[in-house]
Amino acid sequence: MPSVFIKTYGCQMNERDSEAVAAQLVSKGYSLAPNELVADVVLLNTCSVRDQAEQKALGKMGNLAGVARKQGRSPILGFLGCMAQSRGRELIDSLPEVDLVLGTQKFHRTAEYLNDLLAGRSRKIVDIEEEAGSQGTIREHLAAAEGRKAVSAFVSIMQGCNQHCTFCIVPDTRGPERSRSIPEIVAECEELVAQGVREITLLGQIVTSFGRRDYPPVEGRSGFVQLLDAVHAISGLQRLRFTSPHPKGYGRDLVEAYGRLPKLVEHAHVPVQSGSNRILKLMHRGYTRERFLELVEELRSVHPGMGVTTDIIVGFPGETDSEFEETVDLCRVVEFDQAYLFKYSARKGTPAATMDHPVPEDVIEDRHQRLLEVINERALRRYARLIGQTQEILVEGPSRRNPARYEGRTRSNKIVVFDGSERHRGQLLNLRIERVGSFTLYGDAAIIGLDDFPTPAATVEV
Ligand code: 5AD
Repeated sequence: MPSVFIKTYGCQMNERDSEAVAAQLVSKGYSLAPNELVADVVLLNTCSVRDQAEQKALGKMGNLAGVARKQGRSPILGFLGCMAQSRGRELIDSLPEVDLVLGTQKFHRTAEYLNDLLAGRSRKIVDIEEEAGSQGTIREHLAAAEGRKAVSAFVSIMQGCNQHCTFCIVPDTRGPERSRSIPEIVAECEELVAQGVREITLLGQIVTSFGRRDYPPVEGRSGFVQLLDAVHAISGLQRLRFTSPHPKGYGRDLVEAYGRLPKLVEHAHVPVQSGSNRILKLMHRGYTRERFLELVEELRSVHPGMGVTTDIIVGFPGETDSEFEETVDLCRVVEFDQAYLFKYSARKGTPAATMDHPVPEDVIEDRHQRLLEVINERALRRYARLIGQTQEILVEGPSRRNPARYEGRTRSNKIVVFDGSERHRGQLLNLRIERVGSFTLYGDAAIIGLDDFPTPAATVEV
């Protein structure tokens, strides 16, 4: 059977889409190739959020085509996802070696189209049509398809976004908001838990808008909080996460959910984008700096150890020095546990792309560097505060940085590396934090070495 290699650019939603495509192909008899050089099919699942992400994927595809030519091979080459959606056939016109262009509503048809291409029934396939119900098609999981156990799983709950932030291409690439039904999502989660999954992350471009049309508020609880309640009730599930919410969607009901639902971990990824009210307004974000600061306080008053992370755009059109300083100041006040900084990139067709006074590249570079330093310094401080404390981690497997050791994450989403072994995988362990590295904590190896390490019985499975 043919082998396939999938490379993913961009966000966790893209990672999840790729995983579902891989699972679909494995269940249809494909094997997963160890690298792109030996694969019969190479798929790039693309990101359009910044121009650089698009250029990377385009460069990679050119390179793949060149290498294949030199090797005398002609693998099937395909673009999937956001850039495929926004550029369509144009991708084949500029890179004639490309055989397949599949948009964001068509991942579930990958196997069928590859079979057609491999059998010679089609020469080129472009499918970027909208498809009713496509939000319910990202549901296959690779671990299950391969007969493996996974500790943590991502579940796609909705597609698209209606927020129309002026910088953002996502409403174009992912379409309008479409939510799955609560019973359908719960069924998927129950199946995962039955297969051994301990932690579920609910995914969507704007999860706080989940089910706005189909699930009106019940006793002050939004559709999204109703979904959290339903998934939380699954017995055997130990941790529940979600991403990405919109700060505007953090009503009282969601803030309270953190205190009410013990499996809902103390982590909130709340993209602030800017600390300046004028810029927030131009971005069409729908909240003010003051409201954002208040929200962070509310979250931390539910749990003082709440991990608060964010996304920030540096150099939005017209951003002045003093407006940028307001963002720096906000980061100083909030002390994010982690922040993802994005240099503004004009996206064709978005309102911000034609706004006055674009910020020069070198100014964006300087601001980016400066903000990075402030963020890293504050984040390190928050990580260092955990030294000497005991933290509950869910062990995921060998450490990505050092495969000789094991790693897991705290409830507030910080990676902890420790001297573990395979028997710890999937367990909740209480570790004493010994030291801190760059966005990594190190757990007490001496203690975990003891078999009778005193962990609360209810949270450990032997
Ligand atoms: N330029 C730079 N960053 C962007 N993001 C979205 N659109 C753009 C853009 N045009 C960032 C936002 C968002 C994250 C996923 O990507 O910060 O939260």
